[in-house]
Amino acid sequence: MRKRPPAEPYRIKSVEPIKLLVPEERLYRLRQANYNVFKLDGSDIYLDLLTDSGTGAMSARQWAALMLGDETYAGARSFRNFEKTVKEIFGKRFLLPCHQGRSAENMVFSTVLKKGQYVLNNTHFDTTRGNTLHKGGIPVDLPCPEADSEESIPFKGNMDVVKLEAFIREHTPEQIAMVIMTITNNSVGGQPVSMSNIHEVSRICRYYRIPFFFDCARFAENAFFIKRDEPGYQNKSIAEITTEMFACCDGAMMSAKKDGLANIGGFIILDDEELFGKLTEMLILIEGFPTYGGLAGRDLEVLSVGLKEVMDYDYLDFRIDQVKYFGEKIKEAGIPIVEPTGGHAVFCDAGQLLPHIPPEQFPGQSLTAAFYVEGGVRVVEIGSLMFGGVDPNTGEKMTARRELVRMALPRRVFTNSHLDYIAATAERIVARKESLRGFEITREPVFLRHFTCDLKALNSESVMVDG
Ligand code: F0G
Repeated sequence: MRKRPPAEPYRIKSVEPIKLLVPEERLYRLRQANYNVFKLDGSDIYLDLLTDSGTGAMSARQWAALMLGDETYAGARSFRNFEKTVKEIFGKRFLLPCHQGRSAENMVFSTVLKKGQYVLNNTHFDTTRGNTLHKGGIPVDLPCPEADSEESIPFKGNMDVVKLEAFIREHTPEQIAMVIMTITNNSVGGQPVSMSNIHEVSRICRYYRIPFFFDCARFAENAFFIKRDEPGYQNKSIAEITTEMFACCDGAMMSAKKDGLANIGGFIILDDEELFGKLTEMLILIEGFPTYGGLAGRDLEVLSVGLKEVMDYDYLDFRIDQVKYFGEKIKEAGIPIVEPTGGHAVFCDAGQLLPHIPPEQFPGQSLTAAFYVEGGVRVVEIGSLMFGGVDPNTGEKMTARRELVRMALPRRVFTNSHLDYIAATAERIVARKESLRGFEITREPVFLRHFTCDLKALNSESVMVDG
Protein backbone atom coordinates (compact mmCIF):
# COMPACT_ATOMS: atom_id res chain seq x y z
CA MET A 1 0.00 0.00 0.00
CA ARG A 2 1.17 3.56 -0.70
CA LYS A 3 2.62 5.43 2.28
CA ARG A 4 0.33 8.29 3.27
CA PRO A 5 1.99 11.72 2.96
CA PRO A 6 1.90 13.95 6.05
CA ALA A 7 -1.45 15.79 6.07
CA GLU A 8 -2.16 19.09 7.82
CA PRO A 9 -4.31 19.05 10.97
CA TYR A 10 -5.90 22.31 9.76
CA ARG A 11 -7.46 23.64 6.57
CA ILE A 12 -6.75 26.78 4.55
CA LYS A 13 -8.97 29.78 5.15
CA SER A 14 -7.01 32.58 3.57
CA VAL A 15 -4.54 32.52 0.67
CA GLU A 16 -1.81 34.80 -0.66
CA PRO A 17 -0.73 34.74 -4.34
CA ILE A 18 2.91 34.00 -5.19
CA LYS A 19 4.50 34.32 -8.61
CA LEU A 20 7.35 32.61 -10.46
CA LEU A 21 9.40 35.03 -12.57
CA VAL A 22 10.79 33.81 -15.91
CA PRO A 23 14.37 32.38 -15.72
CA GLU A 24 16.06 35.40 -17.38
CA GLU A 25 14.38 37.74 -14.91
CA ARG A 26 15.52 35.60 -11.97
CA LEU A 27 19.11 35.69 -13.18
CA TYR A 28 18.89 39.47 -13.63
CA ARG A 29 17.47 39.95 -10.10
CA LEU A 30 20.18 37.80 -8.55
CA ARG A 31 22.93 39.76 -10.31
CA GLN A 32 21.32 43.02 -9.19
CA ALA A 33 21.47 41.64 -5.63
CA ASN A 34 25.21 40.95 -6.06
CA TYR A 35 24.41 37.26 -5.63
CA ASN A 36 23.34 37.81 -2.02
CA VAL A 37 19.85 36.32 -1.66
CA PHE A 38 19.19 38.50 1.42
CA LYS A 39 19.06 41.44 -1.00
CA LEU A 40 16.32 39.98 -3.20
CA ASP A 41 12.82 41.40 -2.94
CA GLY A 42 10.20 39.03 -1.55
CA SER A 43 8.09 39.63 -4.65
CA ASP A 44 10.89 38.19 -6.81
CA ILE A 45 10.71 34.88 -4.98
CA TYR A 46 8.34 32.02 -5.68
CA LEU A 47 8.94 29.85 -2.61
CA ASP A 48 10.81 31.47 0.24
CA LEU A 49 12.63 29.02 2.50
CA LEU A 50 15.08 31.61 3.82
CA THR A 51 13.76 31.26 7.33
CA ASP A 52 11.07 29.85 9.58
CA SER A 53 11.31 33.02 11.65
CA GLY A 54 8.31 35.33 11.69
CA THR A 55 7.08 33.77 8.45
CA GLY A 56 4.42 31.45 9.83
CA ALA A 57 0.67 31.60 9.24
CA MET A 58 -1.54 32.68 12.12
CA SER A 59 -4.59 30.66 13.11
CA ALA A 60 -8.16 31.97 13.07
CA ARG A 61 -7.91 32.17 16.87
CA GLN A 62 -4.80 34.32 16.64
CA TRP A 63 -6.42 36.71 14.17
CA ALA A 64 -9.39 36.95 16.52
CA ALA A 65 -7.09 37.55 19.53
CA LEU A 66 -5.42 40.39 17.64
CA MET A 67 -8.62 42.42 18.00
CA LEU A 68 -8.50 42.01 21.78
CA GLY A 69 -5.16 43.79 22.06
CA ASP A 70 -5.07 46.30 24.90
CA GLU A 71 -2.73 49.10 23.87
CA THR A 72 -2.46 50.69 27.32
CA TYR A 73 1.10 51.95 27.80
CA ALA A 74 1.60 50.61 31.32
CA GLY A 75 -0.19 47.64 32.88
CA ALA A 76 -2.04 46.47 29.77
CA ARG A 77 -4.46 43.57 30.13
CA SER A 78 -2.73 41.92 27.16
CA PHE A 79 0.52 41.82 29.11
CA ARG A 80 -1.20 40.18 32.11
CA ASN A 81 -2.63 37.52 29.76
CA PHE A 82 0.76 36.97 28.21
CA GLU A 83 2.47 36.79 31.59
CA LYS A 84 -0.03 34.19 32.81
CA THR A 85 0.52 32.02 29.71
CA VAL A 86 4.30 32.25 29.88
CA LYS A 87 4.36 31.40 33.60
CA GLU A 88 2.03 28.44 33.06
CA ILE A 89 4.22 27.01 30.33
CA PHE A 90 7.75 27.82 31.51
CA GLY A 91 7.34 28.33 35.24
CA LYS A 92 9.88 31.13 35.78
CA ARG A 93 9.30 34.04 38.19
CA PHE A 94 10.10 36.99 35.92
CA LEU A 95 9.24 37.89 32.34
CA LEU A 96 10.52 40.68 30.08
CA PRO A 97 8.84 40.95 26.69
CA CYS A 98 10.90 42.24 23.77
CA HIS A 99 10.49 42.54 20.04
CA GLN A 100 12.59 39.54 18.99
CA GLY A 101 15.28 37.07 20.02
CA ARG A 102 18.32 39.17 19.27
CA SER A 103 17.08 42.04 21.41
CA ALA A 104 16.79 39.54 24.28
CA GLU A 105 20.41 38.52 23.54
CA ASN A 106 21.52 42.13 23.39
CA MET A 107 19.96 42.91 26.78
CA VAL A 108 21.25 39.76 28.47
CA PHE A 109 24.82 40.05 27.16
CA SER A 110 24.99 43.83 27.78
CA THR A 111 24.02 43.12 31.39
CA VAL A 112 25.89 39.96 32.37
CA LEU A 113 28.93 39.84 30.10
CA LYS A 114 32.28 41.32 31.13
CA LYS A 115 34.90 41.90 28.44
CA GLY A 116 36.94 38.77 27.74
CA GLN A 117 34.46 36.38 29.37
CA TYR A 118 33.46 33.15 27.65
CA VAL A 119 29.96 32.14 26.64
CA LEU A 120 29.63 28.38 26.15
CA ASN A 121 26.92 27.01 23.89
CA ASN A 122 26.08 23.67 22.27
CA THR A 123 26.34 25.81 19.12
CA HIS A 124 25.79 29.55 18.90
CA PHE A 125 23.30 30.76 16.36
CA ASP A 126 24.72 33.64 14.30
CA THR A 127 22.97 36.47 16.19
CA THR A 128 23.92 34.94 19.56
CA ARG A 129 27.52 34.71 18.40
CA GLY A 130 27.35 38.24 16.95
CA ASN A 131 25.90 39.72 20.15
CA THR A 132 28.48 37.92 22.31
CA LEU A 133 31.34 39.24 20.17
CA HIS A 134 29.82 42.70 20.06
CA LYS A 135 29.83 42.92 23.88
CA GLY A 136 33.48 41.76 24.03
CA GLY A 137 32.72 38.14 24.93
CA ILE A 138 34.24 35.00 23.47
CA PRO A 139 31.73 32.49 22.09
CA VAL A 140 32.75 28.84 22.41
CA ASP A 141 30.83 26.03 20.71
CA LEU A 142 30.71 22.64 22.39
CA PRO A 143 28.60 20.41 20.09
CA CYS A 144 28.55 16.70 20.92
CA PRO A 145 30.88 14.48 18.85
CA GLU A 146 27.90 12.96 16.98
CA ALA A 147 26.91 16.40 15.61
CA ASP A 148 29.19 15.97 12.59
CA SER A 149 28.59 12.28 12.11
CA GLU A 150 27.08 11.05 8.85
CA GLU A 151 25.02 8.54 10.78
CA SER A 152 21.35 9.17 11.42
CA ILE A 153 21.24 9.21 15.22
CA PRO A 154 18.84 11.08 17.49
CA PHE A 155 19.75 14.14 19.58
CA LYS A 156 22.72 15.33 17.56
CA GLY A 157 22.00 18.79 18.99
CA ASN A 158 23.41 17.81 22.40
CA MET A 159 26.24 19.59 24.15
CA ASP A 160 29.52 17.75 24.75
CA VAL A 161 29.39 17.45 28.54
CA VAL A 162 32.92 16.07 28.84
CA LYS A 163 34.33 19.08 27.00
CA LEU A 164 32.05 21.40 28.98
CA GLU A 165 33.37 20.18 32.31
CA ALA A 166 36.98 20.15 31.06
CA PHE A 167 36.61 23.75 29.85
CA ILE A 168 35.16 24.89 33.17
CA ARG A 169 38.00 23.20 35.08
CA GLU A 170 40.66 24.78 32.87
CA HIS A 171 39.21 28.21 33.66
CA THR A 172 37.83 29.92 36.73
CA PRO A 173 34.03 30.15 36.99
CA GLU A 174 34.46 33.97 36.84
CA GLN A 175 35.88 33.65 33.33
CA ILE A 176 32.63 32.10 32.12
CA ALA A 177 29.64 34.43 31.84
CA MET A 178 27.10 31.71 31.14
CA VAL A 179 26.34 28.41 29.50
CA ILE A 180 23.62 28.42 26.86
CA MET A 181 21.72 25.50 25.43
CA THR A 182 20.22 26.22 22.02
CA ILE A 183 17.06 24.15 21.61
CA THR A 184 16.74 22.91 18.96
CA ASN A 185 20.34 23.37 17.83
CA ASN A 186 19.81 25.45 14.69
CA SER A 187 23.42 25.62 13.48
CA VAL A 188 23.94 21.85 13.46
CA GLY A 189 20.80 21.18 11.46
CA GLY A 190 17.90 21.99 13.76
CA GLN A 191 18.82 18.89 15.75
CA PRO A 192 17.17 18.41 19.13
CA VAL A 193 18.78 18.16 22.55
CA SER A 194 17.85 15.23 24.80
CA MET A 195 16.37 15.65 28.26
CA SER A 196 19.25 13.69 29.75
CA ASN A 197 21.75 16.08 28.16
CA ILE A 198 19.82 19.06 29.53
CA HIS A 199 19.89 17.48 33.00
CA GLU A 200 23.64 16.78 32.76
CA VAL A 201 24.51 20.31 31.65
CA SER A 202 22.26 21.72 34.35
CA ARG A 203 23.96 19.57 37.01
CA ILE A 204 27.43 20.76 35.91
CA CYS A 205 26.37 24.43 35.80
CA ARG A 206 24.78 24.22 39.25
CA TYR A 207 27.85 22.50 40.70
CA TYR A 208 30.20 25.19 39.39
CA ARG A 209 27.64 27.98 39.97
CA ILE A 210 27.57 29.14 36.37
CA PRO A 211 24.30 30.62 35.06
CA PHE A 212 22.56 28.24 32.65
CA PHE A 213 20.24 29.75 30.03
CA PHE A 214 18.27 28.35 27.11
CA ASP A 215 18.11 29.89 23.67
CA CYS A 216 14.68 28.35 23.25
CA ALA A 217 13.27 29.62 19.93
CA ARG A 218 12.13 26.07 19.02
CA PHE A 219 11.38 24.59 22.45
CA ALA A 220 8.15 22.84 21.39
CA GLU A 221 9.79 21.10 18.44
CA ASN A 222 12.55 19.98 20.82
CA ALA A 223 9.96 18.69 23.31
CA PHE A 224 8.29 16.70 20.53
CA PHE A 225 11.56 14.93 19.67
CA ILE A 226 12.05 14.07 23.36
CA LYS A 227 8.55 12.60 23.50
CA ARG A 228 9.06 10.62 20.29
CA ASP A 229 12.66 9.46 20.64
CA GLU A 230 13.88 9.54 24.23
CA PRO A 231 13.16 6.45 26.32
CA GLY A 232 10.80 7.15 29.21
CA TYR A 233 9.01 10.15 27.67
CA GLN A 234 6.46 8.53 25.35
CA ASN A 235 3.64 8.85 27.86
CA LYS A 236 4.44 12.39 28.92
CA SER A 237 2.65 15.35 27.36
CA ILE A 238 4.48 18.14 25.50
CA ALA A 239 3.52 20.43 28.42
CA GLU A 240 5.02 18.07 31.01
CA ILE A 241 8.22 17.71 29.00
CA THR A 242 8.46 21.48 28.59
CA THR A 243 8.05 21.97 32.35
CA GLU A 244 10.82 19.44 33.04
CA MET A 245 13.15 21.08 30.49
CA PHE A 246 12.72 24.58 31.90
CA ALA A 247 13.10 23.45 35.51
CA CYS A 248 16.72 22.72 34.57
CA CYS A 249 17.72 26.26 33.54
CA ASP A 250 18.05 29.59 35.34
CA GLY A 251 16.48 31.52 32.52
CA ALA A 252 15.89 31.68 28.78
CA MET A 253 15.99 33.96 25.77
CA MET A 254 13.22 33.32 23.29
CA SER A 255 12.65 34.38 19.75
CA ALA A 256 8.88 33.93 19.65
CA LYS A 257 8.97 34.33 15.86
CA LYS A 258 9.48 30.57 15.71
CA ASP A 259 7.62 28.49 18.30
CA GLY A 260 5.56 31.49 19.40
CA LEU A 261 3.75 31.04 16.06
CA ALA A 262 3.86 34.81 15.65
CA ASN A 263 5.30 37.20 13.10
CA ILE A 264 7.14 39.24 15.73
CA GLY A 265 8.01 38.90 19.39
CA GLY A 266 10.44 37.61 21.95
CA PHE A 267 11.06 37.49 25.67
CA ILE A 268 13.44 36.78 28.50
CA ILE A 269 12.39 34.66 31.46
CA LEU A 270 14.40 34.13 34.64
CA ASP A 271 14.31 33.49 38.37
CA ASP A 272 17.07 35.84 39.56
CA GLU A 273 15.47 38.99 40.99
CA GLU A 274 18.62 41.11 40.93
CA LEU A 275 19.32 40.30 37.29
CA PHE A 276 15.65 40.97 36.50
CA GLY A 277 16.07 44.45 37.97
CA LYS A 278 19.10 45.21 35.81
CA LEU A 279 17.45 43.80 32.70
CA THR A 280 14.34 45.89 33.36
CA GLU A 281 16.45 49.06 33.26
CA MET A 282 17.97 47.94 29.98
CA LEU A 283 14.52 47.01 28.63
CA ILE A 284 13.18 50.51 29.30
CA LEU A 285 16.24 52.05 27.68
CA ILE A 286 16.17 50.10 24.43
CA GLU A 287 12.81 48.34 23.99
CA GLY A 288 9.99 49.92 25.94
CA PHE A 289 8.06 49.89 29.20
CA PRO A 290 8.19 46.42 30.89
CA THR A 291 4.53 45.64 30.15
CA TYR A 292 4.97 45.87 26.38
CA GLY A 293 8.72 45.71 25.66
CA GLY A 294 8.73 46.84 22.05
CA LEU A 295 5.55 45.00 21.12
CA ALA A 296 1.96 46.14 20.63
CA GLY A 297 -0.70 44.79 23.00
CA ARG A 298 -2.17 42.87 20.07
CA ASP A 299 1.18 41.13 19.47
CA LEU A 300 1.12 39.93 23.08
CA GLU A 301 -2.40 38.52 22.57
CA VAL A 302 -1.28 36.70 19.41
CA LEU A 303 1.66 35.22 21.33
CA SER A 304 -0.52 34.05 24.21
CA VAL A 305 -2.55 31.98 21.74
CA GLY A 306 0.48 30.91 19.64
CA LEU A 307 2.45 29.56 22.58
CA LYS A 308 -0.45 27.27 23.46
CA GLU A 309 -1.16 26.18 19.87
CA VAL A 310 2.46 25.28 19.22
CA MET A 311 2.31 22.66 21.98
CA ASP A 312 -0.55 20.77 20.33
CA TYR A 313 0.61 17.21 19.68
CA ASP A 314 -1.13 16.84 16.29
CA TYR A 315 0.38 20.09 15.06
CA LEU A 316 3.90 19.07 16.11
CA ASP A 317 3.50 15.55 14.74
CA PHE A 318 2.57 16.95 11.32
CA ARG A 319 5.25 19.64 11.44
CA ILE A 320 8.13 17.25 12.15
CA ASP A 321 6.75 14.69 9.70
CA GLN A 322 6.50 17.27 6.91
CA VAL A 323 10.15 18.28 7.41
CA LYS A 324 11.08 14.58 7.21
CA TYR A 325 9.01 14.11 4.04
CA PHE A 326 10.74 17.09 2.46
CA GLY A 327 14.17 15.76 3.45
CA GLU A 328 13.43 12.39 1.87
CA LYS A 329 12.39 14.09 -1.40
CA ILE A 330 15.55 16.23 -1.51
CA LYS A 331 17.68 13.17 -0.87
CA GLU A 332 15.89 11.22 -3.60
CA ALA A 333 16.68 14.14 -5.93
CA GLY A 334 20.39 13.48 -5.27
CA ILE A 335 21.38 16.14 -2.72
CA PRO A 336 22.98 14.75 0.45
CA ILE A 337 21.26 16.08 3.58
CA VAL A 338 21.95 16.18 7.30
CA GLU A 339 20.22 13.19 8.88
CA PRO A 340 18.01 12.69 10.70
CA THR A 341 16.10 15.77 9.60
CA GLY A 342 15.62 18.23 12.45
CA GLY A 343 12.70 20.34 13.53
CA HIS A 344 12.44 23.32 11.25
CA ALA A 345 14.49 22.77 8.13
CA VAL A 346 16.25 20.44 5.77
CA PHE A 347 19.98 21.06 5.59
CA CYS A 348 21.68 20.18 2.29
CA ASP A 349 25.35 19.22 2.42
CA ALA A 350 26.74 21.46 -0.33
CA GLY A 351 30.33 20.50 0.54
CA GLN A 352 29.55 16.90 -0.30
CA LEU A 353 27.46 17.72 -3.38
CA LEU A 354 30.03 20.12 -4.86
CA PRO A 355 33.49 18.78 -3.89
CA HIS A 356 35.04 20.70 -6.80
CA ILE A 357 34.26 24.03 -5.05
CA PRO A 358 36.60 24.64 -2.06
CA PRO A 359 35.13 26.14 1.18
CA GLU A 360 36.79 29.52 0.52
CA GLN A 361 34.74 29.73 -2.68
CA PHE A 362 31.49 29.00 -0.82
CA PRO A 363 29.93 25.81 -2.28
CA GLY A 364 26.79 26.54 -0.22
CA GLN A 365 26.40 29.91 -1.92
CA SER A 366 26.73 28.22 -5.27
CA LEU A 367 23.87 25.84 -4.43
CA THR A 368 21.84 28.74 -3.01
CA ALA A 369 22.23 30.74 -6.24
CA ALA A 370 21.31 27.66 -8.27
CA PHE A 371 18.05 27.15 -6.32
CA TYR A 372 16.96 30.71 -7.05
CA VAL A 373 17.93 30.75 -10.70
CA GLU A 374 16.61 27.26 -11.40
CA GLY A 375 13.30 27.50 -9.53
CA GLY A 376 12.74 30.88 -7.88
CA VAL A 377 13.38 29.19 -4.52
CA ARG A 378 15.22 31.11 -1.81
CA VAL A 379 17.36 29.07 0.57
CA VAL A 380 20.30 30.18 2.69
CA GLU A 381 23.99 29.32 3.03
CA ILE A 382 25.05 28.13 6.49
CA GLY A 383 28.72 27.53 5.90
CA SER A 384 31.91 29.49 5.29
CA LEU A 385 30.04 32.59 4.15
CA MET A 386 28.05 32.74 7.40
CA PHE A 387 30.63 31.46 9.86
CA GLY A 388 33.95 32.20 8.14
CA GLY A 389 35.82 35.51 7.98
CA VAL A 390 37.91 37.21 10.62
CA ASP A 391 37.06 37.30 14.34
CA PRO A 392 36.57 41.06 15.06
CA ASN A 393 38.03 40.67 18.58
CA THR A 394 41.05 38.44 18.05
CA GLY A 395 41.76 39.00 14.35
CA GLU A 396 41.87 35.21 13.95
CA LYS A 397 40.47 33.43 10.94
CA MET A 398 37.17 31.64 11.69
CA THR A 399 36.06 28.50 9.88
CA ALA A 400 32.74 26.78 9.35
CA ARG A 401 32.34 23.19 10.48
CA ARG A 402 30.39 22.20 7.37
CA GLU A 403 29.24 23.72 4.09
CA LEU A 404 25.48 23.52 4.52
CA VAL A 405 22.48 25.11 2.85
CA ARG A 406 19.34 25.50 4.92
CA MET A 407 15.82 25.11 3.56
CA ALA A 408 13.67 26.31 6.44
CA LEU A 409 9.94 25.60 6.47
CA PRO A 410 7.72 28.43 7.68
CA ARG A 411 5.06 27.06 10.04
CA ARG A 412 1.64 26.21 8.52
CA VAL A 413 2.51 27.89 5.18
CA PHE A 414 3.56 25.44 2.45
CA THR A 415 1.78 22.35 1.19
CA ASN A 416 3.43 19.12 0.09
CA SER A 417 3.04 20.15 -3.58
CA HIS A 418 5.28 23.15 -2.92
CA LEU A 419 7.83 20.78 -1.45
CA ASP A 420 7.56 18.41 -4.42
CA TYR A 421 8.20 21.37 -6.74
CA ILE A 422 11.39 22.20 -4.80
CA ALA A 423 12.52 18.57 -4.99
CA ALA A 424 12.05 18.67 -8.78
CA THR A 425 14.14 21.87 -8.84
CA ALA A 426 16.82 20.05 -6.83
CA GLU A 427 16.87 17.25 -9.39
CA ARG A 428 17.55 19.74 -12.22
CA ILE A 429 20.41 21.28 -10.24
CA VAL A 430 21.95 17.88 -9.51
CA ALA A 431 21.86 17.08 -13.25
CA ARG A 432 24.24 20.00 -13.92
CA LYS A 433 26.14 20.12 -10.65
CA GLU A 434 29.61 19.85 -12.30
CA SER A 435 28.93 23.13 -14.09
CA LEU A 436 28.38 25.07 -10.84
CA ARG A 437 31.27 27.32 -9.76
CA GLY A 438 32.20 29.24 -6.64
CA PHE A 439 31.94 32.85 -5.47
CA GLU A 440 34.17 35.51 -4.00
CA ILE A 441 33.25 38.32 -1.59
CA THR A 442 33.76 41.81 -2.99
CA ARG A 443 32.54 43.79 0.05
CA GLU A 444 31.85 42.75 3.65
CA PRO A 445 30.94 44.30 7.02
CA VAL A 446 32.66 43.35 10.34
CA PHE A 447 29.69 41.61 11.99
CA LEU A 448 27.29 39.06 10.45
CA ARG A 449 28.71 39.52 6.99
CA HIS A 450 26.39 37.12 5.17
CA PHE A 451 23.38 39.45 5.58
CA THR A 452 24.83 42.37 3.65
CA CYS A 453 28.01 41.35 1.78
CA ASP A 454 28.35 41.53 -1.99
CA LEU A 455 29.57 38.58 -4.02
CA LYS A 456 30.99 37.95 -7.44
CA ALA A 457 30.50 34.74 -9.42
CA LEU A 458 33.87 33.23 -10.30
CA ASN A 459 32.37 32.12 -13.58
CA SER A 460 29.13 33.92 -14.32
CA GLU A 461 28.24 31.43 -17.06
CA SER A 462 27.87 28.78 -14.36
CA VAL A 463 24.93 30.61 -12.78
CA MET A 464 22.93 30.32 -16.00
CA VAL A 465 19.77 28.29 -16.14
CA ASP A 466 18.73 25.65 -18.65
CA GLY A 467 15.19 27.00 -18.87
N1 F0G B 1 18.37 31.96 18.51
C1 F0G B 1 18.15 31.05 17.56
C2 F0G B 1 18.41 29.60 17.84
C3 F0G B 1 17.66 31.45 16.33
O1 F0G B 1 17.44 30.55 15.39
C4 F0G B 1 17.41 32.83 16.11
C5 F0G B 1 16.92 33.31 14.84
C6 F0G B 1 17.66 33.74 17.14
C7 F0G B 1 18.15 33.26 18.33
C8 F0G B 1 17.43 35.22 16.97
O2 F0G B 1 16.09 35.51 16.98
O3 F0G B 1 15.56 36.46 14.73
O4 F0G B 1 14.04 36.78 16.66
O5 F0G B 1 16.18 37.96 16.56
N2 F0G B 1 16.89 32.63 13.83
C9 F0G B 1 16.35 32.99 12.56
C10 F0G B 1 16.69 31.91 11.59
C11 F0G B 1 16.70 34.34 12.07
O6 F0G B 1 16.47 32.13 10.38
O7 F0G B 1 17.14 30.83 11.98
P1 F0G B 1 15.44 36.75 16.18
